[in-house]
Amino acid sequence: MIKQAKETGATFVGIGYYLPEKVLSNFDLEKMVDTSDEWILTRTGIRERRVAAENEASSDMAYRAAVMAMEDAGVGAEEIDTIIVGTVTPDMLFPSTACIVQDRLGAVKAAAFDVTAACSGFIYGVTLAQSMITTGKSRCALIVGVETLSRILDFTDRTTCVLFGDGAGAVVMKSCKPGEGILSTFMQSDGSYAELLYLPGGGSRSPLTPEALERGEQYVKMRGDGLFKYAVKAMVNASKKVLDEANLKSSDVDFLIPHQANVRIIDGVRKRLRIPKKKVIVNIDRVGNTSAASIPIALGEAKEQGLIQKGSTILMVGFGGGLTWGAVLLRYV
Ligand code: UT7
Repeated sequence: MIKQAKETGATFVGIGYYLPEKVLSNFDLEKMVDTSDEWILTRTGIRERRVAAENEASSDMAYRAAVMAMEDAGVGAEEIDTIIVGTVTPDMLFPSTACIVQDRLGAVKAAAFDVTAACSGFIYGVTLAQSMITTGKSRCALIVGVETLSRILDFTDRTTCVLFGDGAGAVVMKSCKPGEGILSTFMQSDGSYAELLYLPGGGSRSPLTPEALERGEQYVKMRGDGLFKYAVKAMVNASKKVLDEANLKSSDVDFLIPHQANVRIIDGVRKRLRIPKKKVIVNIDRVGNTSAASIPIALGEAKEQGLIQKGSTILMVGFGGGLTWGAVLLRYV
């Protein structure tokens, strides 16, 4: 089949992020559950994570990240025609957090919806927006990854509560010359492993009755070891797919921004891709696993630190519950 060259490309024109103020350190967690700074640090690479304030929900953090991205892009709310929010911790089941953010921003022309792809939510959102922009369905899209995971953690379960953090990251996307901006994207899922990471309560299968609450169904359930093995393989595979599609090699990558679930997973991925450590953006030590927010937060911090420059080739790769995984290869212009 002849591949038709796209007439227009899509790129990030603004990047923003937001982290809540409150820091929860491993030492704080030592006082809450049977764990240690040593265990958490050596098994995951996490030293501390951020926790949303009591009155702070996902839409509040998404709004802050969005405003920063829009200022960076020089884009006003009236210009945005699409808002996609990747999250598994929406303010409520519906309306979507994207609709709540739309109203707060005053982006009255936008179509707004959430994407549920767990830790891959940002990658999925960017991929959707890229398709919409390159086919002329959108001219200016806001994509946010946001999580308030502290609200769905059981702080008596040491196997989950030490891993996750809260925060938001956002990008504004517009069209660009073909061959610039997003070079390739990839998404895949495997629902047969859903039980490795899920939240049973609050949906139509198990509404939040007093009995369901008693069983702790409002909290994240995770089988970390199963996820670990799958994560490295899937992230390497997704990375190779986007590199191949763009006719690039891993040595052409200036920065790898992987989902930040575990520093050992990140290391496994970069070693298999033969990407040197200095090219890998890692912030898990300070923010923990922020699921859909992890890649855009890391991207935002890297930009703020002056690491990412115009012309940088950036490989972003995500993996999460579902299972879901995917990658976006970007030449930042
Ligand atoms: O973001 C979405 C995708 N998420 C992931 O990809 C997460 C992938 N998985 C992981 O990152 C790792 O599997 C974990 C960090 C979750 C766990 O690390 P592990 O090396 O796989 O440890 P484990 O689950 O095999 O547990 C080893 C031991 C167990 O004790 P026993 O059974 O050997 O006596 C656990 O009970 O460590 C124990 N343990 C803890 N000990 C102290 C589990 N959590 C803790 C803890 N503190 N917080």
